[in-house]
Parts: sequence; C-alpha cells; structure tokens
Amino acid sequence: MTSVNICGVELKNPVIAASGTFGFGGEFSDYFDVSRLGGISSKGLTLAPKQGNDGVRMHEVRSGMMNSVGLQNPGVEAFIKDELPQMEKMNTAVIANLGGSTIEDYVRAAVMLDKSSIDILELNISCPNVKEGGMAFGIKSCVAYEIVGEVRKATSKPLMVKLSPNAEDICDMAINCCKAGADAISLVNTFKGIAIDIKSRKPVFENISAGVSGPAIKPMALRMVYEVCGCVDVPVVGMGGISTYEDAIEFIMAGSHAIQVGTANFIKPDICVDIIEGIEAFMAREGIKSLEEIRGIIK
Ligand SMILES: Cc1cc2nc3c(=O)[nH]c(=O)nc-3n(C[C@H](O)[C@H](O)[C@H](O)COP(=O)(O)O)c2cc1C
Repeated sequence: MTSVNICGVELKNPVIAASGTFGFGGEFSDYFDVSRLGGISSKGLTLAPKQGNDGVRMHEVRSGMMNSVGLQNPGVEAFIKDELPQMEKMNTAVIANLGGSTIEDYVRAAVMLDKSSIDILELNISCPNVKEGGMAFGIKSCVAYEIVGEVRKATSKPLMVKLSPNAEDICDMAINCCKAGADAISLVNTFKGIAIDIKSRKPVFENISAGVSGPAIKPMALRMVYEVCGCVDVPVVGMGGISTYEDAIEFIMAGSHAIQVGTANFIKPDICVDIIEGIEAFMAREGIKSLEEIRGIIK
C-alpha cells in the first residue's frame, strides 16, 4: 500500500532516513527495527576520510538546529569494507550520499561505489559546511550540469542529485541536473544561517555560517519541492523539517515520491516509525489505496 518506486528501486514505504542524521544505521538498530524504513541515506561520503570541522558542530535554535559537521566520514573505501556489509543486512534500500570538493574526487568515488551493492547514489552538490565542499556545485546550474554529467558517465547506479536551497534558481538547477542524467532529484539540504554567542561576542561556528534544518525550514522546503515537482519528470524526494506524518503527506501532496527525515531523528530516534505508521493510518482512514492517488494533487 505504501510502496513507492524511485528510479527502478522499490521502497517498501516512502520514508527514508536523511543523510548525516542517521549515520550508517547501526546505532539506531538499538532503538527500533530499521528494516521498517523505506531506505537509509548514508552519512555524506568523500573519496578520502575526513575529520570534519573544528569547534562547535551542532547548535540548537528555536524550531530547528544548526550544524557545521564538515562531512566527517571514514571515506568511500572504508564505507564499502566496514559499513556497507552491515547496511546490506538491514533489509532496507541503501542510498550512498556522496560529497566532494573536486569533480575528479566525485568521479573516482562514484566509480568505487558503482562496483558496490548500494541501491542508489545520492550526489550531494549542496553541503554548505566545507570550504569548496560541493556547495559551489550546488549554486550555479551550469556547474551542476558538468559535475552530474561526469558522475553519470562513471556509474550505472540510479543517480539521485541532492539540491541546495541556496541554488540561484531551484527549477533551473533541477532541470539541468536531469538534462545531465539525474534519475531522481532530492531536496533540500540545509539553509545557510548564522548564530552569535552574545556573551563571548563571537559567532557560534568557526566558519561563521552553518546549515539550518528542522521545522523552521519546512515551509520554504515545501515550496521548493512543489516548484521542482512542477518542472521535472523524474521522481522527487522531498525533505526539510519533516517531523510528523502530516508533514510527510504535505510533501507527497506537493509532488514528492518519497520523503527524508533528518533533524527529527535527533529528537526521537524512532520518529520514522511514527511517520510510517501515521501515513498508513491516514491512508486507511481516507480510503487511499496507493500514494499515487494523492501525489502531486496540489496544482
Ligand atoms: C547534523 C547534520 C548532518 C548532515 N549531514 C549531511 C550530509 O553529510 N550530506 C547531506 O547530503 N546532507 C546532510 N545533512 C542535511 C540533511 O540530510 C537534510 O537535507 C537537512 O537537514 C534538511 O532536513 P531536516 O530538516 O529533516 O533535517 C545534514 C544535516 C544535519 C542536521
């Protein structure tokens, strides 16, 4: 009833744990049966291991949070050797989220992931927290076109491109990514924001700005998802502030095939199960047999 197909991959339900908020799924297995999920998007991977940023990495704000993790991860090789075998056993779709700072690094990592058992490659051209960390690729659609095209040539895996809300023109960006070979689009990553510690009279984050996520960004994220759904023909995976089943249904009504849940996992580790069960109950109450009946009904 809740199953959805994202670029040829069948998900048992539309709820995916968002990159960077669910690690590689292992820790969450202590809290709930992660096989309930439609999928897991891995922590953002880079070709070489990364330590991430110094200083404060996470900061709570009203109605959300800010982060400046800086793509800390063990690198693609260690992911394939140490993390992927565990993820495969979780009986849910495995999405590898890939970041980088040069086209060459993205391509080399994509070639390695192409030979692995991952189900979908999610190309993150939108990380705001690393210098040259992919963000440049996510602002200008002509640059995005180039990197998506190169990665497309490097992999036959289903390719989902994750967009930044800071893109100059979100629809132009989505259209260009599709022209370059994206099979699906996911959006949005975090918004750029600033927090200041008035006691020390300094910015909270070493990089001054950081990524804002959580309920605060939902209306803007939903608007961008709605607009992108109206201008591309590929499946769209929406995210940004989803923390209830009602939020998830809104994104589906705006046109999303599936949704990702990020910040809410920090508040309630098994929130995804609440959202899945909420969607199921809503469908039963409303007599909805398939999510296709309500997908994109907002015109
Ligand atoms: C602590 C943290 C780390 C994140 N790391 C990544 C990452 O490595 N790659 C990525 O594509 N998105 C990353 N994101 C962005 C989320 O996947 C998601 O796009 C964003 O937080 C919006 O969804 P939310 O409001 O449900 O959290 C991160 C978000 C947070 C809060």
